[in-house]
Amino acid sequence: MSSQNSSAQRTLVLLKPDAVRRGLIGEIIARIERKAGWRITSLELRTLDRSVLERHYAEHVGKSFYEPLVEFMSSGPTAAMIVEGEEVIAGIRALAGKTNPLEAGPGTIRGDFATITRENLIHASDSVDSAEREIKVFFPGRA
Ligand code: CMP
Repeated sequence: MSSQNSSAQRTLVLLKPDAVRRGLIGEIIARIERKAGWRITSLELRTLDRSVLERHYAEHVGKSFYEPLVEFMSSGPTAAMIVEGEEVIAGIRALAGKTNPLEAGPGTIRGDFATITRENLIHASDSVDSAEREIKVFFPGRA
């Protein structure tokens, strides 16, 4: 990534099939774009297959919620994107709110629009290492 600012970062964001089905991707993208200095540098709508999900959710394979999660995540198109900017990794997770939407604060994406943990609208990388690993899975040409 080229930047003169050492706290500039990039992250992988997925707007999950519930966001696409419910017509919320414009609303969510608008919230991301409103942050000064953040920009979307790759964006693609695609239906994810099991092999991509297995790589993306490697740490969750075998957990009780894994199979229903894969079924949900492959149930329709997902909007996958790379977002770049100042402190964007923690920043987008703050915009998203807690994983369980019932615990997510008002004003957050999950707090405002979701109610159940699996269908929580958005995924955002949780660290620099995760972001680089996940970008490789979804956008190998940008790795
Ligand atoms: P995400 O940020 O994509 O990372 C893993 C996903 O698994 C999470 O969002 C939820 O969609 C889902 N998830 C995590 N924990 C649970 C759970 N306890 N029950 C159902 N789904 C979960």
